[in-house]
Amino acid sequence: MSQRTKEMLAKMSRKQKVFQLEQLTTATYLTKGGKYHIITGPNSPIKFDKGMVYDVGTSLNLVGAETMIDAQTNYLKNSKYKNPLMIMQDVIHGHRTIYPINLAVASSFDRGLAKDLASMAAKEASLDGMSVTFAPMVDLVRDPRWGRVMESSGEDPYLNGEMAKATVQGYQGDMGKYNIAGCVKHFAAYGAAEAGRDYNTVDISERNLREYYLPAYKAAVDAGVKMVMTAFNIVDGVPCVGNEHLVRDILRGEWGYNGVVISDHGAFDELITHGVCENRKEAAYLAMRAGCDIEMMSSCYGLHLEELIDEGKITEEQLDKAVLRILDLKEELGVLDNPYRSVNVEEAKRVQLCPEHRALARKGAEDSAVLLKNDGVLPLDKNAGDVCVIGPLGNTGYIIGGWHCGGKETEAVSVLDGLKNKLGYDVKYAQGCQIEYDSVDESMFDEACQLAKNSKSVVLCLGEHQDYSGEGYCRTDINLPEIQYKLLDKILEVNKNVVVVLFTGRPLSIGRLDKVAPAILNMWMPGTEGGNACANLLFGDAVPSGKLTMTFPRNLGQVPIYYNHYTTGRPKALEDDDRFVRFTSCYIDVQNSPLYPFGYGLSYTDFVYSDFKLSNNEMKAEDKLVASCKIKNVGKYKAKEVVQFYIRDVKGTCVRPVKELKGFEKIELDVGEEKVVSFEITEETLKYWNRDLKYVAEKGDFEVFIGKDSDCKSFAKFKLV
Ligand code: GLC
Repeated sequence: MSQRTKEMLAKMSRKQKVFQLEQLTTATYLTKGGKYHIITGPNSPIKFDKGMVYDVGTSLNLVGAETMIDAQTNYLKNSKYKNPLMIMQDVIHGHRTIYPINLAVASSFDRGLAKDLASMAAKEASLDGMSVTFAPMVDLVRDPRWGRVMESSGEDPYLNGEMAKATVQGYQGDMGKYNIAGCVKHFAAYGAAEAGRDYNTVDISERNLREYYLPAYKAAVDAGVKMVMTAFNIVDGVPCVGNEHLVRDILRGEWGYNGVVISDHGAFDELITHGVCENRKEAAYLAMRAGCDIEMMSSCYGLHLEELIDEGKITEEQLDKAVLRILDLKEELGVLDNPYRSVNVEEAKRVQLCPEHRALARKGAEDSAVLLKNDGVLPLDKNAGDVCVIGPLGNTGYIIGGWHCGGKETEAVSVLDGLKNKLGYDVKYAQGCQIEYDSVDESMFDEACQLAKNSKSVVLCLGEHQDYSGEGYCRTDINLPEIQYKLLDKILEVNKNVVVVLFTGRPLSIGRLDKVAPAILNMWMPGTEGGNACANLLFGDAVPSGKLTMTFPRNLGQVPIYYNHYTTGRPKALEDDDRFVRFTSCYIDVQNSPLYPFGYGLSYTDFVYSDFKLSNNEMKAEDKLVASCKIKNVGKYKAKEVVQFYIRDVKGTCVRPVKELKGFEKIELDVGEEKVVSFEITEETLKYWNRDLKYVAEKGDFEVFIGKDSDCKSFAKFKLV
């Protein structure tokens, strides 16, 4: 709170205060085509009249410096109070230069890269006049049917927290002119939607919520994130936007967060749909009582807050606190000094998609790609004869990912173009089949097989359409479509030198692909520079170093499947994985092990782990242990490795996971080079939410693991005494 915002508040009418809490689309304020009665959410109309619309405090979504200037100018011209709009945007994985989806960036296991990418996006967005981004999304996910896993960092609370911190730091920096405020979302546990169906019921215990789902939001709050967005779903039966326990008790109470809280799009009205409110007046009451400041795209506060105050149900003080948080954020972002903030039409044109930004996006795509299989066909040899590209995703820019904000597919580099850029000759292409998952059209097979027959090697680009993942895009079948398998089989009949390049926004149940494809390079949805990054990886000018942050199942029947699971009372022994053992926790028809585990990813080189050490086999609460080992690059390529550190709490007053990621370090080793990597263990490392729901470390035995993925074996034990 500052003197200025306090004085501003004192001069505001109650009506002006109330509308400071409202948020409409920025498009509403364009001189051309402003819409005052906007249909939003599942078609619940905004009920504001024109006067109200020009009292609204913030707006969302719209890309382009000129459009921002038009909207803000028109707003200020028509607004009685002249309190500028603070404009927000879904800058999720890039603004104009699009980098890989967040599930990919997390797979880089590179905190610095995540920060640099966010910082680049913040600069591009601030030059378009943006103030806030609705990111990072840190929802923990375990169900690949959910379309929004592509925005998440995956299944591990520690990694999600590290990525949240890095991303908030990237966006916010020192809150300078090229920074924007972050907004961590979706608070909380949106990723636990039953059956992986968007907006579906969430039903998890308080312990599960605290142990797995909350840590990443808290990491963002501790990193100083300026805004928190509540989720659409319920937690313990109450929708998040009206959930006092979640917002008031945990976020604001326990964590001491005093920043802005915003609802998700139309979520106030959804309190009625959920069946916890009778009408918009009750929705306004519930949301204000919980502590939600900004109402995104609905009209409950605007229509009913004043009467709730008149009736004494909401106090003027509650209203003032909400308004002050918004004014303080506007002031911190410089919007009160300059309504146009950092907008700069000319500089935006120079900076957005500039070579340096493209280079960073390309690095992001190279370092997030995950090599899932390689029978030796990779890396390809530039001089070993013609390479061709086949497949529905080989010659398209629709690989930039679902939340591409102001990015355009037409500005993206396809795999075909990437290969042409690298090889300097006219690389041939055949589509082979359609991208639609239900296509049965085999009419392009012959042309594709003919091309494959006449080529030395085939880059076969398969996977999901970009719009099969993202918000509202959930699937009940996460395998490759039959038509793509048929094309692959035909191609393999005429050419064995096939590399499958996979484009996907989620883990896929591709056991069948793993059996027949000589190599599989998962590019995820790699963004604007995807094709160039792919070409660099295919020819070894970049070496794959990504590691999965979300388990790939053998088939959908295994879902949910994740590495940090409990043993159960009847675990099936790992050595029995390939056989059925009745009366143990297993299936008749499929192993318990996943297709590819958390932390998994291959390289073109080999790393040998040795010399494992633990500084002591006993520690008191105030002590610190150090676990370390040596890693040596024994292969032929300089490459990066993600060294992962896990701990197992052998016994607790509650069951404990078979292992938990507690640290990771991405290192680069030259051929023959070796390095010692070490990880500290303190009491904090060992804490969890115990049977009394206390966050403590309990005395007893612990096991220690260091390795290249979550299948690594423990090398030492210690006792907390
Ligand atoms: C959407 C999403 C949220 C996004 C918001 C604004 O429905 O749930 O992630 O930030 O609306 O676009």
